[in-house]
Amino acid sequence: MTNNDALVGKKIVLGVTGSIAAYKSADLVRRLGDAGAELRVVMTKGACEFITPLTLQTLSGHPVAIELLDADQESAMGHIKLARWADWILIAPASADTIARLAQGRADDLLTSLCLASESPLVIAPAMNNKMWENQATQENLAQLQARGVQLLGPASGDQACGEQGAGRLLEPTDIVAGLSKLVVPAKLRGKRVMITAGPTYEPIDPVRFIGNRSSGKMGFAMAAAAVEAGADVVLIAGPVHLMTPHGVRRINVETAQQMNDAVIDNVHTCDIFVGCAAVADFQLETVAENKIKKTKHEKLHLDLIPTLDIVSAVASLPDKPFVVGFAAETEQVADYAQDKLNTKGLDMIAANQVGANMGFAVDNNALQVFWPQGTQAFPLTAKTQLARDLMTLIIERYNAKDST
Ligand code: PMT
Repeated sequence: MTNNDALVGKKIVLGVTGSIAAYKSADLVRRLGDAGAELRVVMTKGACEFITPLTLQTLSGHPVAIELLDADQESAMGHIKLARWADWILIAPASADTIARLAQGRADDLLTSLCLASESPLVIAPAMNNKMWENQATQENLAQLQARGVQLLGPASGDQACGEQGAGRLLEPTDIVAGLSKLVVPAKLRGKRVMITAGPTYEPIDPVRFIGNRSSGKMGFAMAAAAVEAGADVVLIAGPVHLMTPHGVRRINVETAQQMNDAVIDNVHTCDIFVGCAAVADFQLETVAENKIKKTKHEKLHLDLIPTLDIVSAVASLPDKPFVVGFAAETEQVADYAQDKLNTKGLDMIAANQVGANMGFAVDNNALQVFWPQGTQAFPLTAKTQLARDLMTLIIERYNAKDST
């Protein structure tokens, strides 16, 4: 099943609570319907101050439930019936008050009662002022809910209705539908930790100059997004690149090979799969000049370089090593050099790409030839975002095969 048809036929209770972002729930109802979900909307009294039940009733094609103690509603579909009916409960927007009441296990309105009465998975998409979001009380309430298995979509950051800036914006309806679809599809890496390195490293020559390379980080960031899609808990060790962090990824920024090595070694111990996609410098300056090196006419400049630490090899030689995937960037004899690296670095798998002349580095598309001790698979030229998903599927397959031997 792909994420696109994940919601077809799914019975979803959409809870709408009191937030200015409640106006977006009209669009959300339409998009959940377009995705094939069967929908029933439950509104809190607060939500009705921001958007009328009639709007959501018209868009969902079903009466909107509001009252806990409504004789008509109780006889038609009360909170217990609704709780049993739902495959999933999605609360969007989820206000700070609703989050607090859910954390306390309150049952003083229809929405909180049905959440308490239901065994279905609960997903919340928070929306509130950034200070309310950052407040320790809200964060503690969320931590409690997450510890009970409640899943979170967002919030996003940016301009807020109150004129402030920061985290607390409701995710856009398309992102909520995409996020929910991913949760609904059985996640193959749920409960697994994946670490990915991405981008170049910069090795300083003096305070203003460095040795770098053409890696943009696109392939590594796409791998991180693909691992999140597969349900993993993802740490991304990123060299100096200007890319947005994929949703749900913990990112650690580094600059040099030594810093990347330290960040990896500090965080790799609980990791199940390691993917070394970064173009780590092979050499660093033996001594970095304290001040800017002055240009002297007609004289050559000699730089003494020493090898950097080999990060992927270090991970592969850990006693309790994760499943280790390397990349090989080659301009010639791609397959031979890649297989050589697979063996000498002690890897479980290597993804080889031809680089140079608009290939591999910095472009949006890529092709890979993947090798592992017992086999090989070619991935033709495609968008790095899709290529990363295809490669992640193969990694999961090989990881599971290795795990079961
Ligand atoms: O970032 P993009 O612009 O999207 O480009 C993607 C990419 C071309 C950078 C990517 O697909 C890729 O090939 N990454 C690996 C680049 C590289 O450094 O390859 P290598 O053949 O030099 O190194 C082999 C392996 O050893 C790699 O997994 C590398 O991360 C690792 N390595 C290398 C040196 C070092 N000191 N430590 C390492 O861990």
